[in-house]
Amino acid sequence: MKRLKLGMVGGGQGAFIGAVHRIAARLDAKWTLTAGALSSDPKRAAASAADLGIAADRAYSSYSDMAKAEAARPDGIDAVAIVTPNHMHAGPVIAFLNAGIHVICDKPLTTTQKDADAIKAATQTSKAKFFLTHNYTGYPLMRQAREMIARGDLGRLRVVQAEYAQDWLTEDIQNKQADWRTDPKRSGAGAIGDIGTHVYNLLTFVSGLKTDALSAELHSFVDGRQVDDNAHILLRFKGGARGMIWASQVAVGCENNLTLRIYGDKGSIEWDHVNPNQMRFTKFGTPTQILTRGGAGLGVGADRWTRLPPGHPEGYLEGFANLYSDAAKAIIGSHHDDLLPGIDAAMDGMWFISACQKSSAQDTAWVFK
Ligand SMILES: NC(=O)c1ccc[n+]([C@@H]2O[C@H](COP(=O)([O-])OP(=O)(O)OC[C@H]3O[C@@H](n4cnc5c(N)ncnc54)[C@H](O)[C@@H]3O)[C@@H](O)[C@H]2O)c1
Repeated sequence: MKRLKLGMVGGGQGAFIGAVHRIAARLDAKWTLTAGALSSDPKRAAASAADLGIAADRAYSSYSDMAKAEAARPDGIDAVAIVTPNHMHAGPVIAFLNAGIHVICDKPLTTTQKDADAIKAATQTSKAKFFLTHNYTGYPLMRQAREMIARGDLGRLRVVQAEYAQDWLTEDIQNKQADWRTDPKRSGAGAIGDIGTHVYNLLTFVSGLKTDALSAELHSFVDGRQVDDNAHILLRFKGGARGMIWASQVAVGCENNLTLRIYGDKGSIEWDHVNPNQMRFTKFGTPTQILTRGGAGLGVGADRWTRLPPGHPEGYLEGFANLYSDAAKAIIGSHHDDLLPGIDAAMDGMWFISACQKSSAQDTAWVFK
């Protein structure tokens, strides 16, 4: 397959997730980073592009110039990765979609419902595709669990317990990443937007359950913090299953603890992102099995998203790379799985954030979908 050309908005020197996107895009040799508007500071944008070997005439100081110029070039980029803070998603997403360039945007979709609606409208009028990097859906064992649940291995689902706990915002730290995340205008929400949307997305992706209603208590423990840093959420699903999410950025000792436990009337799965190459599977009344990524007897074909034999750990970067490789295949038309999070998952994440905020403001009242 000919490599696709990738552009990037955000992700300059000192940024976090842009570098992860670049590694993920490189891993399966399906993309070449070709253009970028890498920083809000023009000097830093130019220096960052030079560091990455982007030609000077493809290093832009604004995303709108980049969208126009790349759309006009015969060798323009095929897709753009949007890796700016949340309040800076809508502008570039809409500009590139309107220019007919595919968009790979990081989560959450944006900060306001108005912006989300405008993005959705742009996806409907553009020929270009839109992907949202809920990267935890790229783990082979999460795709394995999804297929096992869909084929009935767990029976009828009853209970979903999910957690995403970190501790890096335990104190009022000052750094680039914390600054915008704790500013409601730039983040739109605290822990529920930053990590709650990930765990909510993963839970619905794996279980296939459709949300009926939620009840949430958001809390901020750090003095003066204007966004939530801890959330407890109860979920009711269509068909009767019940769920619970804990999302926290003040859980001391938790680095990036994302866990998912799903219980049906015939079996259960339990997975923990800290040890992502293994998943517990129990059929009721029989001993628990440890399923391993790419290991024997998985039986649903999820091992096609692994690169190394079992026992050689894969993790965050490889899971992220699965999204990039699937997106490349979707763009060239050779991919027929419907696994990539797109605008529907993005809008569901926006509903999740606003429903949590509404419920919490009304003393945990149930908010229906
Ligand atoms: N999928 C994941 O696991 C994951 C992890 C971390 C962050 N994220 C998401 O990625 C996004 C970025 O987060 P981060 O932690 O990398 O932030 P960051 O602050 O480290 O980086 C943001 C970058 O965007 C640039 N930027 C800001 N405005 C710009 C503009 N107008 N034009 C060009 N560049 C601009 C900044 O200069 C910086 O380089 C957020 O939406 C966040 O929620 C996702």
